Amino acid sequence: MHRPVLLEEVLAGLEIHAGTNYVDGTTGAGGHAHAAIERLGPGGRALLIDRDREALERVEQRLAPYRKQCAFVHGNFADLTAIAEQSGMRSAQAVVLDVGLSSDQVDTAERGFSFAQDGPLDMRMDRTADLTASRVVNDWPEDRLVTIFIESGERGSARRIARAIVRERERDPIATTGRLAEIVERARRGRRGKIHPATRVFQAIRMAVNAELESLDCGVRAAIDLLADGGRLAVISFHSLEDGRVKNIFREHEGRWESLAAGGRAWHGAYPRVRRLNRRPITPSADECARNPRARSAKLRMLERIPDGEEA
Ligand SMILES: C[S@@+](CC[C@H](N)C(=O)[O-])C[C@H]1O[C@@H](n2cnc3c(N)ncnc32)[C@H](O)[C@@H]1O
Repeated sequence: MHRPVLLEEVLAGLEIHAGTNYVDGTTGAGGHAHAAIERLGPGGRALLIDRDREALERVEQRLAPYRKQCAFVHGNFADLTAIAEQSGMRSAQAVVLDVGLSSDQVDTAERGFSFAQDGPLDMRMDRTADLTASRVVNDWPEDRLVTIFIESGERGSARRIARAIVRERERDPIATTGRLAEIVERARRGRRGKIHPATRVFQAIRMAVNAELESLDCGVRAAIDLLADGGRLAVISFHSLEDGRVKNIFREHEGRWESLAAGGRAWHGAYPRVRRLNRRPITPSADECARNPRARSAKLRMLERIPDGEEA
């Protein structure tokens, strides 16, 4: 089962109080949610969202003892504003977004996320969505594939890999993760770094299939909006592209003071105002990485909403 990443650090940062509202936009196996609900006590409420219906059904079983205080919602955290409204939650004291995949998803071959196990080219977190990895790989124009591969960090070989994919799919549609991994490996001509040669290509396709960056932008903004005065948000991401976007949104809301020629100062920034709890992202300890190698690339950023009218 998925192990929650940076759990102690998230709990220490969020300071969850009994009787308050908690939102988990990425409930997954419920590791963070379970620990949060324990701290909420019976008087607190938890809104638990995941776009993977099967994951949500499993976590609903796991958290059955707390069912009375939980609302389980199948949906995208990008739609958090509407989901919270429909669930009757007007504000939250603590919100967690732990983006990316759960181990349960990666380790299930038929979900098609892994190059390590052969499976259908699917990669949808939400299996009710239309766009699959097979459509991206077999239908998207070469240039569009090059763009997403470059964005994902596959700079030197992006064109060669995209061209190889197009050549292969013209012969025979690419149906499995195993065949895609082989094509990528061959196109990279055995170039090996520290990570598997297909890692970045698989990551790029998965992020495109699930519109992950777009969801993250909307979700982080919606989460900040939903915070109660003094409420706290924790975002864990696993890719520098994601972490960069989270940092920028946090900074926009942190704003800055500017001195005015006429005297005094004016504040520039997005509403609501926030205080970043950590300037640099928090990363897992060597001990956590040894226990859970999948935590390796995690980065945690947290903020607190500043009550209206209070100085930063
Ligand atoms: C890294 S796991 C979360 C693990 C969880 N914190 C735990 O302790 O078990 C990420 C989960 O978030 C879900 N997810 C990712 N992006 C999402 C989004 N935009 N909206 C809703 N769920 C999302 C995935 O389906 C997956 O189940």
